[in-house]
Amino acid sequence: VRTQVAIIGAGPAGLSLAHLLAREGIQSVVLENRSRDYVEQRVRAGVLEQGTVDLLDGLGLGERLHREGMVHNGLSFHVHGRRIRLNLTELSGGRSIYVYGQQEVVKDLIAARVAAGAPILFEAEAVALDDLTSPTPRVRFLQHGDEDVLECDFIAGCDGFHGVSHQSLPAGKAHVYEREYPFAWLGVLAAARPNEAELVYARNPRGFALHSMRSLDITRLYLQVEPDEPLDNWPDKRIWDELQARLGTTEGWSVNRGPILERGITAMRSYVVEPMQFGRLLLAGDAAHIVPPTGARGMNLAMADARVMASALAAYYSGRRTELLERYSDDCLRRVWRAEYFSWYLTTLLHKHGDTDGGLLDRSQVAELDHLATSHDAAVAFAKNYVGLETV
Ligand code: APR
Ligand code: PHB
Repeated sequence: VRTQVAIIGAGPAGLSLAHLLAREGIQSVVLENRSRDYVEQRVRAGVLEQGTVDLLDGLGLGERLHREGMVHNGLSFHVHGRRIRLNLTELSGGRSIYVYGQQEVVKDLIAARVAAGAPILFEAEAVALDDLTSPTPRVRFLQHGDEDVLECDFIAGCDGFHGVSHQSLPAGKAHVYEREYPFAWLGVLAAARPNEAELVYARNPRGFALHSMRSLDITRLYLQVEPDEPLDNWPDKRIWDELQARLGTTEGWSVNRGPILERGITAMRSYVVEPMQFGRLLLAGDAAHIVPPTGARGMNLAMADARVMASALAAYYSGRRTELLERYSDDCLRRVWRAEYFSWYLTTLLHKHGDTDGGLLDRSQVAELDHLATSHDAAVAFAKNYVGLETV
């Protein structure tokens, strides 16, 4: 099989790239090692920045998002019995965030790809990337037990943190920056009405908690837990009691309970591979960088990479201009490092850290939240980061 761009991974990065390339008349084949059903059901974060919504609208794929997604103009912090609300839209000069599950984005992108009759192979696992510095790199992949080869001009490594792409960068050609956090998130999706129309982030001595949602009837809730915590330690009643204890510190705020539809534990990591390219291999999304989920930047970064990569490939195919391809990693990493910093900051601000400093960090967190509550300039800077500054 031969194509122009071999895309490994059908997550937000790979799928949006496939559509952006098709719009430029560039052919691609998407290889995805899971089944269609699996990737469409995988529950993940669900906050879209304006730039991400604009990208989907530009592809003509924003119709369901605008119908079913929820526009949010603000968020709140619950801290020590206080409630601090930030009006993100006013503070950021008119930008909003949209709440729409990542798997809904994935469903919309897959449906459009299939409807266009463009190639997307499920249960096709890339196992090795060859000849990355030649003009004709190749992807070896396994489908239904048979090994096959996809020949191409470029390989887009959009296969996430566990994929084969970033592992294919030769030793010494890339630097890896990594930090694992000493806590994880237990996330639940519940058939319960959200308590209010906006996100609530709780900073509590018992640990972090977050109230989010997917619709008027479905809440999405998170609790900070130990990194190696077995799910069995968290029967339903304990989850609800703990959510109440952490979020319900503001008078009259009692978490709405309901049947738990899905639950899972997410590790927390910051990770960047630099540069995000080697020869004819270009990385995008989680294959190149991970942010901890506080702030929900991951999907937005992944799709912004896809946009930068598509522009660079379009310049190459329309006139063999290679400057944008050469700058691909630098262009992405400016935005990525900002998001790495902001995600680390928000994670540090809101989580309970081990008590090794006599409470020094705890007191500093409260001081920073107080600063956000009282300083207009600080709140403006926060809001601009939260809604997504860059639209590169
Ligand atoms: N061959 C083919 N596909 C693979 C391989 C492989 N060897 N390894 C992994 N994949 C697939 C995974 O099954 C997954 O569907 O690559 C896809 C990568 O998609 P995501 O993990 O969603 O990554 P990305 O598109 O970069 O989106 C980043 O996803 O993890 C969340 O929070 C993260 O929101 C962020 C977003
Ligand atoms: C989510 O709704 O899944 C979500 C919202 C905000 C975050 C993280 C996740 O910071």
